[in-house]
Amino acid sequence: MIKFTPEQIFLVTGASSGLGQGVAIMLNNLGATVIGVARNHDRLIETRDKCAHPENFFIEERDLTLDIDTLPTFVKDLREKYGKFRGMALCHGISELAPAQMLTYDHLIKMFNCDYFSHLMLAKGFVDRRNNTGRGAALVAISSFAADSTNRGMAAYAGSKSALRASMKCLANEVSRFGIRINTVSPSDIKTPMVLRGFASTVRGYGFEDLYPFGLGEVEDVANVIVFLLSDDAKWITRQDWGIDCGVRGGGEVVND
Ligand SMILES: NC(=O)c1ccc[n+]([C@@H]2O[C@H](COP(=O)([O-])OP(=O)(O)OC[C@H]3O[C@@H](n4cnc5c(N)ncnc54)[C@H](OP(=O)(O)O)[C@@H]3O)[C@@H](O)[C@H]2O)c1
Repeated sequence: MIKFTPEQIFLVTGASSGLGQGVAIMLNNLGATVIGVARNHDRLIETRDKCAHPENFFIEERDLTLDIDTLPTFVKDLREKYGKFRGMALCHGISELAPAQMLTYDHLIKMFNCDYFSHLMLAKGFVDRRNNTGRGAALVAISSFAADSTNRGMAAYAGSKSALRASMKCLANEVSRFGIRINTVSPSDIKTPMVLRGFASTVRGYGFEDLYPFGLGEVEDVANVIVFLLSDDAKWITRQDWGIDCGVRGGGEVVND
C-alpha cells in the first residue's frame, strides 16, 4: 500500500475542486504534507476540512494565469517557506468550447495561459534542483483524452492539452539523469464541476454517458493513478502518458477489440 510521510511535501494545483481536490486529499490521507494552490479561498478551506491530517495541508491562493513568467520564483518562494518538494501535481485548468466561428486569438491565449504556459513554468520551478528532493521526486500533469480527439469546438483545448503532453515528455527526458520522473495522465469525462458544467450547457450532454461502458469516471479513478505515479511504487515509470478513459478514444468512439 502507498504511504507517505509528513516530510514528503507535494504541491497540488487546482486543489479547490474536482481532480486536484481529490489528489490533494488522497496524498494528505496517505500521510504527505500538501500545499494546495488555487484562487478560491473558501473551497481551499473545504479541501483542508476533508483531509485526514488538516495540520499537514497548507493553502496558497494564487491565480496561476497572472505573471506566468514569475511562476518558477513562486515555486522557489514556496520551497523556502515549506521545504523541498517531493512531488508536484498540476491539476488546475479550464475547458471552454469554441467552434471555429468563435475562435479568437484572445480565446487561444486564455486557454494556453491556463492549460499550458502556467504548467510549463511551474514545472520549470519544480525541476530546479534547489526546489526538489532529488532522486525520486516526481511530477504529474493532467492532459486530456481531448488531445487525441477531433471533437467539435475543442481546437484550443485539445491543442493546449496536446502541447502539454509533448512538452512534459521533453522535460522528462531532460531531468531523468537527476532521477526525477515526469508523467501525464489523460482522463476522459470524470464527474467534476468542470464536466458537470459542460453537461449542463447541453453542448455535449445528450446521451454522452451512454458512450462509457463503465459509466462516467469518478474523481478517485484519476486521483488513484496520479498518486501512484507520484509514489515510489512508480519509480521505473517516466515520460509516459496514462489514458484513464474507460476505453473511449477520439471523442466518444468506444474501442472494441
Ligand atoms: N474532469 C474531466 O473529465 C477532465 C478530463 C480530462 C482532463 N481534465 C483536466 O483536469 C484538470 C482539472 O479539471 P477538473 O475537472 O478537476 O476541473 P474543476 O473542477 O473545474 O477544477 C479546476 C481547478 O483549476 C483551478 N483553476 C482554474 N483556473 C485557475 C487559475 N487561473 N489559477 C489557479 N487555479 C485555477 C480551479 O481553482 P479556482 O477556481 O479556485 O482557482 C480548480 O481548482 C483540468 O486541467 C482539466 O482540463 C479534466
